[in-house]
Amino acid sequence: MLKIVPLSAENTAAAAELSAKCLKEAWSESTLAAQLKNPHDHTVIAYADGVAAGFLSVWCVAGEAEINNICVLPEYRRQGIAKTMLAHAAQELTEAGRWVLEVRESNAAAIALYESLGFQKAGLRKNFYDSPTENALIMAK
Ligand SMILES: CC(C)(COP(=O)(O)OP(=O)(O)OC[C@H]1O[C@@H](n2cnc3c(N)ncnc32)[C@H](O)[C@@H]1OP(=O)(O)O)[C@@H](O)C(=O)NCCC(=O)NCCS
Repeated sequence: MLKIVPLSAENTAAAAELSAKCLKEAWSESTLAAQLKNPHDHTVIAYADGVAAGFLSVWCVAGEAEINNICVLPEYRRQGIAKTMLAHAAQELTEAGRWVLEVRESNAAAIALYESLGFQKAGLRKNFYDSPTENALIMAK
């Protein structure tokens, strides 16, 4: 069973642990804890049968929702967890008229995810990422 819960002081450690298993630039427990003080932050954790399997961070400011990060543990991918977290955020953030994100040009899985949800390519930031240097695709809907 999949359960989506807000980030809280009780689950920042679990979120940091899963982020370290999923992301090259993992979010530390202190980075996640800082989100708790940000009134614009909407971070959720997806628990699959009690296991913290995914997290999504969105900031929503002045009607624009920016997806900061999303990840799912490798062994839980292609089960609709990312899609479910994004659908949950869309339901919660009814004030968001526009959604935007940046993604590495080579990140085919994430680009396919966003395209499956109706995001379109909206621009490019040249050499935006380090290690390795890579363009960021801006996607929006
Ligand atoms: C991108 C990521 C979050 C997707 O998570 P996920 O839970 O596997 O995604 P979902 O199962 O919800 O996928 C929904 C749809 O997205 C697309 N998709 C997701 N992963 C895909 C892949 N590897 N290849 C092609 N399409 C993919 C498909 O259309 C999929 O629907 P389908 O499975 O019915 O075909 C996951 O691969 C991940 O954690 N990657 C590492 C972190 C990362 O790159 N984050 C993005 C930062 S911008």
